[in-house]
Amino acid sequence: MTRQVPRASVADTLRVLAAVVAPTVAKGVLARRPRVVAAEEQVDADGHAVRLLTELRGRYGHEPLLLNLPGRDFALVLHPDHVHRVLDGSPEPFAVASLEKRAALRLFQPHGVLVTRGSEREELRERNEVALDTGRVHRHAGAFLAKIDDEAADLLRRADRTGVLAWDDFRRTWWRVVRRIVLGDAARDDSITTDLLTRLRMDANWAFAHPNRPRVERAFASRLHRYAVRAAPDALASPGVESQMPQWLFAYEPAAMAAFRALALLAAHPEQASRAREEAVLARDSGADETDLPFLRACVQESLRLWPTSPAILRDTTEETVWNGHVLPQGSGLLLFTPFLGRDAENLPYADAFTPDLWLDGRPEHDWEAIPFSAGPAQCPGRDLVLLTTSRFLAALLERHDYHQRAGKELDPPRPLPHTFSPFRLAFDAVPAPQPVSTAW
Ligand code: HEM
Repeated sequence: MTRQVPRASVADTLRVLAAVVAPTVAKGVLARRPRVVAAEEQVDADGHAVRLLTELRGRYGHEPLLLNLPGRDFALVLHPDHVHRVLDGSPEPFAVASLEKRAALRLFQPHGVLVTRGSEREELRERNEVALDTGRVHRHAGAFLAKIDDEAADLLRRADRTGVLAWDDFRRTWWRVVRRIVLGDAARDDSITTDLLTRLRMDANWAFAHPNRPRVERAFASRLHRYAVRAAPDALASPGVESQMPQWLFAYEPAAMAAFRALALLAAHPEQASRAREEAVLARDSGADETDLPFLRACVQESLRLWPTSPAILRDTTEETVWNGHVLPQGSGLLLFTPFLGRDAENLPYADAFTPDLWLDGRPEHDWEAIPFSAGPAQCPGRDLVLLTTSRFLAALLERHDYHQRAGKELDPPRPLPHTFSPFRLAFDAVPAPQPVSTAW
């Protein structure tokens, strides 16, 4: 008789629920709760989770580890080879539209590609890739960069007056950029639409436990519909992709956290900050349409490896699967916990340090460990657009300013970077920077 993959004891399952699942759910999977994030930062909650999962892998072995839960087979994927297998084997036999994901997303994106299966999924994935120009520079990049520069300049004017760049203003500015890119310039100040989405996402944090709110859903959908029909020529919105637009708006928000934390990393690493500024100045001197900011993109990817904004990549098995001769039943849930995978010190020598150069040759994604955008056929189709937007936004901030962290948890290299790092309490002194001497002839 074939044996099942290992099953954690009840005591170990309770430890996983307390150290991995509860803190992830408490801080809000779909919309972060800043106060909970601050409390978790105090105790470095993700650090506990990483240590626990490392210990469990040492004791139970490398196969997916089934938790001892009533009513549902649910396993943790703990080894890079298995991460590779699961992501490469999506959506069959590892379905992207997992039970938990469908429960959470039904509230604000019931027709998003993430929650569909079969031929519908294939068609929607294709539509996303076409609209987002996955794998290449977006056809509207020129217009997007102008919007980003515009809003960053506005933010810097305010920072110049006060000498401070803080999260609240950064976030408000980010939302303007996102609304202009996704919905069109007419949506720049339409915070009602994005506030409605935030309400739905807050509800969705409760997944199965929250009832639908038809009035809020209808109000959000009808506002979105107007932008889809209007289809601004230099935005993503259009009637053919209306059902995907909630996902785009929702997914763009965490990129602000990634960019702001990247700024904190640069503030704590002056050598890398100089490289970033040189790249930004060079790009400015090469022309307004310059999209090539590899080092800044790497800084954002590194910020996402260190503090992933999508902590849980979920799958359901559509058939029985075998792992080193051990069986995992059909219909099992799988959790790929990215805060663990990106900081797995047994496999990643650079786990707790800021090492943006790693991304310049794309290595971490080949290692199937640092996967903030996931990988394989379901990899985030917005990845290129996110990296374009964040790197350009950071370039605009860094061209003429230096940043010194004045609030929030202090990063203190070469000591290991914290596992939990709240962007919400971060603020920087923004001071004019000495300009690098141009080496161009
Ligand atoms: C910091 C920003 C972002 C991060 C870290 C991120 C990460 C991810 C991750 C981890 C997934 C799950 C993939 C899987 O299950 O294997 C995903 C899916 C997806 N993302 Fe992103 N994302 C970001 C922003 C965006 C943006 C801005 C867009 C669109 C404009 C976008 C569009 C999508 C779509 C459509 C999917 C579903 C893909 C599928 O099921 O095939 N994402 N993203």
